[in-house]
Amino acid sequence: MKSRIFILIGPPGAGKGTQAKNIANLKDFVLISTGDLLRENVEKKTELGITAKSYMDKGELVPTELVARMIKANIKQNIGRNGFLFDGFPRDLAQNALLSEMLKEFNLDVDKVIYIDVKDEAIHERLTNRRICPKCKKVYHMKYNPPKHGELCDDCNVSLIIRDDDKIDVIKKRLEVYHKSTQPLVDYFEKSGRITKINGERTPKEVEGEIISNI
Ligand code: AP5
Repeated sequence: MKSRIFILIGPPGAGKGTQAKNIANLKDFVLISTGDLLRENVEKKTELGITAKSYMDKGELVPTELVARMIKANIKQNIGRNGFLFDGFPRDLAQNALLSEMLKEFNLDVDKVIYIDVKDEAIHERLTNRRICPKCKKVYHMKYNPPKHGELCDDCNVSLIIRDDDKIDVIKKRLEVYHKSTQPLVDYFEKSGRITKINGERTPKEVEGEIISNI
């Protein structure tokens, strides 16, 4: 069976991670989130993690060759599965060319790109109010999706944390990088007709419903 390939793309804080986890579960897709994989490496203090952290803390992209190695290993491990959902990769035109090459090796191709559209004005509020469980990695929002008790994870009962790159100056930089590097890729996908644009400024359930009906 040929695996289906989907890409979730959008600005920082658009809700890619929130949606990707649920959709991968619902559809039994392999989730490849470069942000999560990099953060795992940072936490374990691997060589890759130590290098990546210096870029992530500044809101810059980690060098593509490091990210690409990680992606290829993940595809190889999961070949033959129902589908793959990419969150956070590709992030620019060069990464997209690399992904196409990798997929070709495995006789695969991208089925659809889902673009979660959220305007810059909403991003700031989303990211400054984001909290993460350090244990299970569940994502909360202190206003729109708050934990039941104070700042404790509902499932693990441990204190939630703020991501290192959710500081105001780093958020600003990440948005700049998005507009400079990722927006041209979104424009490219739009021209190639493979992208579905979804209004991300609705409830997570509404956004999820529209994504599901498009894949
Ligand atoms: P990455 O982790 O990919 O970060 P990002 O793209 O900036 O996206 P975020 O994770 O911040 O946001 P999200 O869209 O997942 O939103 P979320 O669901 O959490 O990358 C981090 C860094 O790693 C990069 O800066 C770079 O350095 C490096 N990196 C990663 N990939 C790379 C690559 N391919 N190449 C090179 N470097 C790479 O939601 C945000 C908040 O909003 C949460 O609080 C959530 O609860 C809330 N929320 C979600 N949906 C809604 C909704 N519908 N309404 C209201 N609130 C909502």
